[in-house]
Amino acid sequence: MRIILLGAPGAGKGTQAKLICEKYNITHLSTGDIFRMNIKNKTTLGVQAKEYIDKGQLVPDALTIQVVEDRLIKEDCKNGFLLDGFPRTVFQAEELNKFLQSTNNTLDVVLLIDVPNEFILERNVGRRICSSCGRSYHIKFNPPEKLGICDFCGDKLIQRNDDNEETVKERLTVYKNHTHPLIDYYWTNHCLSTVDGRDDILTVSKNIFSALDT
Ligand code: AP5
Ligand code: MG
Ligand code: ZN
Repeated sequence: MRIILLGAPGAGKGTQAKLICEKYNITHLSTGDIFRMNIKNKTTLGVQAKEYIDKGQLVPDALTIQVVEDRLIKEDCKNGFLLDGFPRTVFQAEELNKFLQSTNNTLDVVLLIDVPNEFILERNVGRRICSSCGRSYHIKFNPPEKLGICDFCGDKLIQRNDDNEETVKERLTVYKNHTHPLIDYYWTNHCLSTVDGRDDILTVSKNIFSALDT
């Protein structure tokens, strides 16, 4: 299965991506996670990306597309993949189409997790992520079993640099201007499926699974 997950910042893409990829045994590719790992390891890509991410702006298309293409040719994507946070501009979507055509691949579904703006701030500001595996938690909606510790790998939970009120607002504006147009783009070009992202995490995943299984 080859899936794109679309949705505003904090819609629940990363949370649902983990559950979908476990169930369907496909590879989770999050451009945000890849950039954050590079920032942590102080690579050249990390230094370049940090400048944009900390301001809530998009990393330039050329850099981002290269990262994704380098990843999609790897063996673990042969069985299927889920793109979380990519594409984020119409240009990225067009480049992805060309790349998939050149490798004789097609997308199965573009899944939109639809969450209204009034949910976004609280979800982002209350989020904590694992510094190793990148899993998302929430101080109110999805707390870990042990305070400050990842249930999955036991590592420390941290707050993302871009999860403060001012940067979240900028990320939302960027989403509206650059990424929201992809909903129309995929509506006319591919099979777009929408799930209501206002429900609790398990209800959203149940609805995603039934959309994917039909
Ligand atoms: P990225 O990491 O992709 O951030 P994002 O799109 O802003 O999305 P988030 O990761 O913030 O949210 P999410 O939808 O994954 O939500 P989550 O599951 O964590 O990108 C970061 C930056 O990298 C960008 O700003 C940009 O600079 C750069 N970048 C990345 N990709 C790029 C690209 N393609 N092009 C250019 N630049 C790029 O959930 C959020 C919170 O809510 C968590 O606390 C979670 O526990 C909680 N939650 C989840 N679901 C529910 C629910 N149903 N009910 C209640 N709480 C919930
Ligand atoms: Mg995410
Ligand atoms: Zn972890």
